[in-house]
Parts: sequence; C-alpha cells; structure tokens
Amino acid sequence: MADSIALLCAQALVCQSCGLATTRTQVVVGEGEVPSDLMIIGEGPGAREDELGRPFVGRSGKLLDRLIQEELGRTRDQVYITNVVKCRPPNNRDPRPDEMHACAPWLERQIVLVDPRVILLLGKTAVSRVLGVTGSLTALRGRRHDRNGILVIPTYHPAYVLRGGATRLTEMRVDFARARLTLSGGPHAT
Ligand code: URA
Repeated sequence: MADSIALLCAQALVCQSCGLATTRTQVVVGEGEVPSDLMIIGEGPGAREDELGRPFVGRSGKLLDRLIQEELGRTRDQVYITNVVKCRPPNNRDPRPDEMHACAPWLERQIVLVDPRVILLLGKTAVSRVLGVTGSLTALRGRRHDRNGILVIPTYHPAYVLRGGATRLTEMRVDFARARLTLSGGPHAT
C-alpha cells in the first residue's frame, strides 16, 4: 500500500485493474496539495483530461477553477482534485460499477493521504461511490454528510451546471461557500 502520494501516483500510472486500461491515453490520478484540508472528487476523466493526464482541465474544469477562486478564495493547487475513476470511459460514457470497484482502492488511499477536513463531491457518481447512497442529487445536496469524521458536501457536477440555468450555478456556489465556512471555522461551521 502506497505511503506517499508520489508512490501512489507511480503505481496508479501503470494500473491494469480494469478494461479502461486498454482504451485510455493516460491515467489521470489527481493533483493538488497533499495533505490538504479540502478534497474535490469528480466522476472520471474526459477527452481533454485523458490527453493531458490532469483532472478537470476542459470546460467543466474552467467552471470548477472559477468556483474554487470565487467561492473558496483559493487556486486549484491549494486543494486536492481527483475522480472516482482514473481512466477515461470511452465516448464519455458513465463509469461501470466494475470499473469503479476496481478503481476504489486508489481513491480510498488518496483520501487517507490527503487527509481532508472537507470533501466536495461533484455529481451523482461521486456521491454514490463515496457516501454509498443513491437517489436524486437535489435531495442529497444542501445537507451535510459525515464520513469517518470528514464533512462531505454533495453538489452538482460542473457539466450539469453548464447545461442548466443560473439556479444550478447559484446552488453550486452555495455548496462551495459552505465548505469555505467550515474550513475557516466560521460561527455556523460544523
Ligand atoms: N469531469 C470529471 O468528472 N472529471 C474530470 O476530470 C473532468 C470532467
């Protein structure tokens, strides 16, 4: 088991645990500060991420960067960003349960090594994988969840917000602002 993020990256970069290994260009392990008080988890790499080997560098990533800056007052290198699956599912299909299962040890180890106080989950896939709950994101967001002492905040996936209207964006901003409040130890933080 990797005892540093550098070792974990080296091991994950040659992973052959599922069929996505045969179609990927690069493994997108994750990036940012380690340890970090804040971890952000998405679904899986898209085309641009697969090409560059970095998470959230396409259109969704631009929105994510904006929210990190405007709502958290940080840059992306001051948080840790990763995905449920580290390899791109072909044609941007949803990751399959067997692929998420095969990839889970990497994510679990990343959570231990990053040691966050708060985790922001972007979209349904991340929510079901990390919290083990399914259901409508509308019902799950806006509530605080605990995972072994870590505050977990489910929110929308940026791609969903990009397809939707101003309300989704406002709600996503609120979720990011909640994370900031907790991290700053504000009066209403939990
Ligand atoms: N969507 C994701 O869920 N993750 C990325 O890294 C990019 C797009």
